[in-house]
Amino acid sequence: MELIIGKNYEDMSKSAADIIAELIRLKPNCVLGLATGGTPIGTYKELIRMHIEEGLDFSGVKTFNLDEYLGIGLDLQKPYTQDQSYARFMHEELFKHLNIKKENIHIPDGLAKDPQKFCSHYEEEIKKAGGIDLQLLGIGGDGHWAFNEPGSSLYSRTRVQPLSKQTLEDNFESFYKKSGIKKEDMPHFAITMGVGTILESRHALMIANGKKKAEIISKALEGSISWEVTATAIQLHPGKTTVILDKDAASKLTWTAKE
Ligand code: GLP
Repeated sequence: MELIIGKNYEDMSKSAADIIAELIRLKPNCVLGLATGGTPIGTYKELIRMHIEEGLDFSGVKTFNLDEYLGIGLDLQKPYTQDQSYARFMHEELFKHLNIKKENIHIPDGLAKDPQKFCSHYEEEIKKAGGIDLQLLGIGGDGHWAFNEPGSSLYSRTRVQPLSKQTLEDNFESFYKKSGIKKEDMPHFAITMGVGTILESRHALMIANGKKKAEIISKALEGSISWEVTATAIQLHPGKTTVILDKDAASKLTWTAKE
């Protein structure tokens, strides 16, 4: 595993964007796995800057997002603050600023009539695209990857997953609160790529910042592999693995303290 510790959030974001951009330049038709949350926003901003100022070309790039809330989908008629779908988040924070082709964007469909069937279809689409070259990952407060909540099998595939109490709390604070939606009206289920699906990506790139992520990052990287913290699966990733942190998120790692 390669561990990069940046000075701050901007540093972390720039390093992550540089790795993604290098892949796009080397393999213009690469397949990216993308994540939502506050953490990747800086990385997406930097990729947008590279596209505008340096001509980074997304026309051949395919993307697969990790997850989506069940029961909601992109609604461009609503203002951003009222549409809490991850599809909307990706559209606003990244896709609408790039020359990526609409047909190359894949996001789990939270409005699928038959969600289980959709999940199998999503797995098929990933296979058809040749697998994920690079999967960008954040980490949830309870240690989840995507929406693989504690108790998710480390072999799990794309599926419908109930959300943990902590995730509902965290995501209410970071997203839902500003939309005026009550906590009890938030979706309690999501479609998520499985841990097993994520582990098949050729390069896993996990990013985290801030003191509030320090404890869970130390568990994920240095703790025992367990379905209680699904991000511990990073220790099992057979391909290339990169973790980029800021100083705060790295502050509880014992490895770096020994250096
Ligand atoms: C959500 C997403 C995860 C993400 C997590 C952390 O639960 N499903 O993929 O890693 O939020 O979000 P943040 O980056 O805002 O801390």
